Amino acid sequence: MGLGDRMVSNGFQIPAGWTGRLGGLLMASGNAATERHIADLVPEVRSKDVLVLGPGPGIGVHALLARGASVVAVDPSPVMLAATLRRCRGLCEQGATLTLRTGTATSHGVGHGTVDVAVSVNNVMIWPDRVAGLTSIRQVLRPGGELLVSAHEKWLKPGLPDDCREAGFAVEQEWRWEPPGRGASTAVQLRARVASA
Ligand SMILES: C[S@@+](CC[C@H](N)C(=O)[O-])C[C@H]1O[C@@H](n2cnc3c(N)ncnc32)[C@H](O)[C@@H]1O
Repeated sequence: MGLGDRMVSNGFQIPAGWTGRLGGLLMASGNAATERHIADLVPEVRSKDVLVLGPGPGIGVHALLARGASVVAVDPSPVMLAATLRRCRGLCEQGATLTLRTGTATSHGVGHGTVDVAVSVNNVMIWPDRVAGLTSIRQVLRPGGELLVSAHEKWLKPGLPDDCREAGFAVEQEWRWEPPGRGASTAVQLRARVASA
């Protein structure tokens, strides 16, 4: 792996070391609007159990906790889990419920049928096996549970709705969203629900 690839990997894909801490700071500003936008789309969020995949520096987790959700956040990067904890510590001290897990979309240890809503912002593009990740997420959702995904359009491999269907979701909507601010990158977003048997 060349230096450039290593910087991208350690900075943004699975943030590690000082590059990861710098990547976390950049993501906390550059992706904040998208993270908050997706948190706003979670319906009747108070008291819901929400699974957040790849929270990075934790902007979306903070927004969900502030609105009364119970959150399980799963990320393979200890640097990002620490950043999420730092950001959310104040809310946790006031009684918010946050569980942090080291893991991935396919290996997270979350119990089947324990989650109302699963959220993934800017990480579905880097999962090694998208259908496997989506299938694993579908299994932890309760009947009627909902999936919300957002990803930078420029890095998203085509076929996300088809992959969701293959994983057992009914896709309700896919759309594009322009985050505010100069230079922000267009997002593809999707809402799906656990398909009834
Ligand atoms: C580009 S960052 C995005 C972080 C944040 N959601 C945002 O938009 O700013 C990708 C995040 O996904 C995590 N990640 C990488 N591979 C993952 C996987 N297979 N499953 C879940 N999360 C993963 C990374 O550690 C990192 O925190």
